Amino acid sequence: MERLDKILAGTGRWSRREVKELVRQGRVRVDGQTARTAEEKVDPEAAAITVDGQPVETERFTYVMLHKPAGVLSATEDSRQQTVLDLLPGELRRRSLSPVGRLDKDTEGLLLLTNDGALAHRLLSPKSHVDKVYYARVEGALEPADAAAFAGMSLGDGLECLPAGLEILSPGECLVTLREGKFHQVKRMLAARGKPVTYLKRLSMGPLRLDPELAPGAFRMLTAEEKKALADCR
Ligand code: URA
Repeated sequence: MERLDKILAGTGRWSRREVKELVRQGRVRVDGQTARTAEEKVDPEAAAITVDGQPVETERFTYVMLHKPAGVLSATEDSRQQTVLDLLPGELRRRSLSPVGRLDKDTEGLLLLTNDGALAHRLLSPKSHVDKVYYARVEGALEPADAAAFAGMSLGDGLECLPAGLEILSPGECLVTLREGKFHQVKRMLAARGKPVTYLKRLSMGPLRLDPELAPGAFRMLTAEEKKALADCR
């Protein structure tokens, strides 16, 4: 059970003070009854809360799928450069969302933003073996030997990579599957094969696939099926 003002303020739509005022004006209902006080304890998972007759989504956590465009930082704030949080409306920015893993500034594609810290931790843990799939364009011509090398690669700077997948789509294009997310990993692995990356886009993360309807810079909330798939993936 949680206080009504905490639940409603947690949606990012109102401050606690505003919630108090809404309650005072009799505009908030819980399971059909007008709320008497903002301190009322309510089960956020079970109660039907409305403001001015409109249902309020009171889920504890928020999950946003963003098609990250190139040129934007995978950070929550930066004094000079645009971050992925700047692409969201104020209501979502106030929900303490963080990107689950980072994409380089020039990388595009799937980025999950959430305030569910436990899920983020689990998805990022190398022990979870959550596959991330990237589409890459490279200079030079990819060969079967490159794919074979990805099965057990050690980079010059001492980085031992977990076995990774490389599927060649054309001489200059491939799909890379990683189970970990070391700094610039796709670029470093392909550069080590003499095939520098010219374009990189993340297509999926575990069961979550970038929605083809989302243009770069666009976002949407995860569906119930997507949330369940993420919760189930280990
Ligand atoms: N690997 C990279 O090199 N860059 C990314 O943004 C993600 C994976």
